Amino acid sequence: MLTQGSSPGFDSTEFRKALGSFATGVTIITTRTADGTPLGMTVSSFNSVSLEPPLVLWSLANSSLSLPAFRAADYWIVHVLGIDQESLSGRFAKRGEDKFAGLEHDDGVGSAPLLRGCSARFQCRTAFQYEGGDHVIFVGEVLAFDREDHAPLVFHGGRYAHATRRDAPGIQPRSAHLEGSFGEDFLGYLLGRSHFQFFAQMQPLLAREALSDEAFHVLSTLTLKPQLPQTELATATAGIATDGGQAGIRALLASGHARHCEEIGDEPCYALTDTGKACALRLVAAAKNIERELLARLGPGEAPVLKSLLNRLIGAIDPAAAQLWERGAA
Ligand SMILES: Cc1cc2nc3c(=O)[nH]c(=O)nc-3n(C[C@H](O)[C@H](O)[C@H](O)COP(=O)(O)O)c2cc1C
Repeated sequence: MLTQGSSPGFDSTEFRKALGSFATGVTIITTRTADGTPLGMTVSSFNSVSLEPPLVLWSLANSSLSLPAFRAADYWIVHVLGIDQESLSGRFAKRGEDKFAGLEHDDGVGSAPLLRGCSARFQCRTAFQYEGGDHVIFVGEVLAFDREDHAPLVFHGGRYAHATRRDAPGIQPRSAHLEGSFGEDFLGYLLGRSHFQFFAQMQPLLAREALSDEAFHVLSTLTLKPQLPQTELATATAGIATDGGQAGIRALLASGHARHCEEIGDEPCYALTDTGKACALRLVAAAKNIERELLARLGPGEAPVLKSLLNRLIGAIDPAAAQLWERGAA
């Protein structure tokens, strides 16, 4: 849909949404006022301007409480945020609060606060200021900069987002030999292959603990909460065990990993014994090592992207799964 920029009929909400379709990084820009107060705010309008001389720009709303301080400031520092700095971004997007309370930082150019753990930092001297409608555009000369390897925090469509590297261009998913059959990008193949290969690495650990697959699934389920009634065990193992987890629980009762606890109504109820808890903790530690090694083979910041997408997929396929964890936390 084409919307004309001139009023009447210019829809500013749609305009804002259309601007939001331009994905950006997220920065925090800091300065220090003449009386020594540190100031900062979250800014996504940052952009590069010139390499020689090195110039960058950003725009600041006329309504911002920080405007007078930035107008008067000779120096400011742009911090490009990494994927794990979303809460810092939220803190600096709050209006007028003491955003530096309890936050460790160093002093940079013009004593402007220099935040830690960022992807890049550009220490700037104000070069120009331009009126830009309801914003002021600041152009700064970069006096110093540094950078660290972090996956970027991204803002898109009014929300934080992930960015991940694309496969090398030109690589197309392959099809099976049988025409019309599964291909390499079939979701079931991707999920199944990664699931079975991951759990194949767990098999030696289960063998060492003398646990069958069924017993392991039930043991994992029993770690969710102190006591688990039969119906919840069946819900938790739905799609994994066909018998409501009965074979698994029988094996765990026999091996001393699980015990009966007081029935809820007339429903059997189970809990882990100390032996079961110790075994579960050993398995969790070993499984986390496998996870760490596998995820380290992905690029920086790609593990949170993968986990976030899988979580959304589980939410779409099996909304009840989230309740297992909520009840467990109680
Ligand atoms: C991701 C994100 C990007 C933002 N980008 C800008 C921006 O480019 N310019 C701006 O003036 N405000 C921007 N804001 C809003 C300010 O961070 C917010 O208004 C802040 O409260 C201003 O603080 P102050 O009023 O204490 O100065 C952004 C907020 C978020 C969450």
